[in-house]
Amino acid sequence: MIKHSLSFRFQDDVPDDVRASVLAALAALPDHYPAMRNWSMGENISTRDSTFTHCMTVEFDSNDDLLAYLHSDAHETFVRQTWRPVIAQQAITSYEYTERPTAPTRSGDIVTTRPHGPFGLEYARIEVPDLSATTDFLQYHVGLQLEAHTDEYAYLRADIEHHSIEVIHAPGRDVGHTVAVGYSVESEDVLAQLQKSVVDAGFEILDLQERQQGFCENGFAVRDPNGLVVELFTEFQEYAEPPHTEIRPVDLIHPFIATTRYAESMEFYTEVLNFQASDHIVGSTTFLRGEDRYHHSLALQNNKQDFVAHLCFAMKSLDHVMRMRARALYKGAPIASDIVNHSASTSIAFYLHDPKFGPRFELCDRHRVFTPDEHETHRARRMPADPRNIDVWRPAADDWGRF
Ligand SMILES: [Fe+2]
Repeated sequence: MIKHSLSFRFQDDVPDDVRASVLAALAALPDHYPAMRNWSMGENISTRDSTFTHCMTVEFDSNDDLLAYLHSDAHETFVRQTWRPVIAQQAITSYEYTERPTAPTRSGDIVTTRPHGPFGLEYARIEVPDLSATTDFLQYHVGLQLEAHTDEYAYLRADIEHHSIEVIHAPGRDVGHTVAVGYSVESEDVLAQLQKSVVDAGFEILDLQERQQGFCENGFAVRDPNGLVVELFTEFQEYAEPPHTEIRPVDLIHPFIATTRYAESMEFYTEVLNFQASDHIVGSTTFLRGEDRYHHSLALQNNKQDFVAHLCFAMKSLDHVMRMRARALYKGAPIASDIVNHSASTSIAFYLHDPKFGPRFELCDRHRVFTPDEHETHRARRMPADPRNIDVWRPAADDWGRF
């Protein structure tokens, strides 16, 4: 396709009736040139640039069709006799383009040809040396509600989903350690495709943890290249109502996975599990999104150790983030990284970290959610490893402290 645009400004002294007749002549062009497609014209309403008063655009199937119009006797005569005497300034642009495929919309069924990834993060399973102290911490400092517990395990939830954190009593551990993450999958078809992809890539299919089998319809697990168990399942159970707690997270968004096998992990999560890259901090971190369209439902960081570095919860508002920060300050709970404004996900967050209770807990507000169109078309940015590309409130390229 060829798009042809004509921006123009009338001379100041041209009478209104002459302007109207010229505009009418332009409006009649498609009647005389059947090869014209999608003709449009309007007054310039830009507040940025008022160089031109009007713009006309029109499309042609080919450049030959455009040239046939431009070189026609009628057009040459119109330009010479009617156009030039009244136009002060003009700009013409013609360019060839390929129509972008119509972005698919999500209406419950798979309508994209792109293989789908998991929908979104539902929970993390954390082994801790002290079960009771950990559940106290997660209730007061993260805002989770304790739903069930024994001496061996506890389930805490943020919203209606069955649980966000499963805590496992592991007295042999010195510090908390995340052993598994669970992702919901939108349909049995996608689950089957993911399982086939895992098998085809040579990874072993594992059973879901036995308790988890009772909380979902179908699923399987796979160990990622770092040893982290990833559980995938459909129809995760949910409560009729969220907890009656005002200041609590509304969703668990992502794990941030530090890995010694960065490239291998990238391949696993993007090629095998079909996550899509949202952005890169070059050489350091890649943010990956699932079908829930959060900017990242998972992040991978190139590191010298393998561990889940943090889990991110979305709070209802910045006010609730700050109230949780106030609780941390009041109780002296360790704030590992104070308020930051993340460039990639546009979220404002702070991080709590007491190693006894597991990874850092990031409490954030306004984590970016892509539109359905952006989800299908977004091009991942490649940002240099500069603190300003991680926290836009950093004033300088060497301000690496406080992360
Ligand atoms: Fe994060």
